[in-house]
Amino acid sequence: MKPKVFITRKIPEEALKKISRSCEVSIWDKEDVPVPREVLEREIVNADGLYSLLTDNIDDELMERAENLKVISNMAVGYNNIDLEAAAKRGIMVTNTPGVLTETTADLTFALILAAARRLFEASDFLRRGEWKTWSPMLLTGQDVYGATLGIIGMGRIGEAVARRAKGFNMKILYHNRKRRPEAEKELGAVYVDMETLLKESDFVCIMTPYTPETHGLIGEKELQLMKKTAILINTARGGIVNEDALYKALKNGDIYAAGLDVFENEPVPTDHPLLTLPNVVALPHIGSASRKTRITMANLAAENLLLALDGKVPPNLVPYQI
Ligand code: GLV
Repeated sequence: MKPKVFITRKIPEEALKKISRSCEVSIWDKEDVPVPREVLEREIVNADGLYSLLTDNIDDELMERAENLKVISNMAVGYNNIDLEAAAKRGIMVTNTPGVLTETTADLTFALILAAARRLFEASDFLRRGEWKTWSPMLLTGQDVYGATLGIIGMGRIGEAVARRAKGFNMKILYHNRKRRPEAEKELGAVYVDMETLLKESDFVCIMTPYTPETHGLIGEKELQLMKKTAILINTARGGIVNEDALYKALKNGDIYAAGLDVFENEPVPTDHPLLTLPNVVALPHIGSASRKTRITMANLAAENLLLALDGKVPPNLVPYQI
């Protein structure tokens, strides 16, 4: 009998075909509507495998209904949407899609650095509104990226890829990480510092750490106050790592210069969110890994992880679980 798989969204054709060849597939076949909880609750009951997205909350209560579930394959590198402890106690494997989105996400991170520093969206809106009267010495002046100091919080694969790009901009690279990364220090000239030093000395503070209970609200009022008035905060990790109220106040009061945000605590961020009223916020709808090629590769990798697990093998991208 073919294993039963539930897929929580319309996914690229190639990945769907791969799974359909050996599985009985049920799918929430919508592009831009997340699967309703009651559908997920119904579908999980008979599923051997779940193909999920970062928008799906896969919690203990849901897994309790899933007697046959062997694997949850998340089409994302982050897996904060899955209760790992609940999965581990039931022997359910959890997989993610690391590696394949590293460079694409680093590109977007660098795009945010440049856009926030050089006020690209503000400048473009200014032009479109017909306010461009003449070239003027101090018109729409921003901050330099070239030669500035970049502080990376969380020196994993994506952090390193951002640091490689920063080298080309002759930036000084500081980093903070749970563990020191001697290879990054040697190859990229990255300097390990404590959080306080990173916040005080960086022109760009770039959040690249996973979202866990420990990193929730990692950047709050105290941390923002330590930053330079000319500094820019970049977040392409998860919104909940930053306290958004504190960030709004810091940006509004000129305690920091600008922010580039691809992620928000609640997504989609409501259009009346205070942060979106500020001209010094560049805001994007969680598109870090969104190149066509990378998303197709992620979808295929998630399919491979799922199929290997259903075949009784250990998939290559089992997420690390520590109690
Ligand atoms: C995107 O945010 C991901 O975790 O892949």
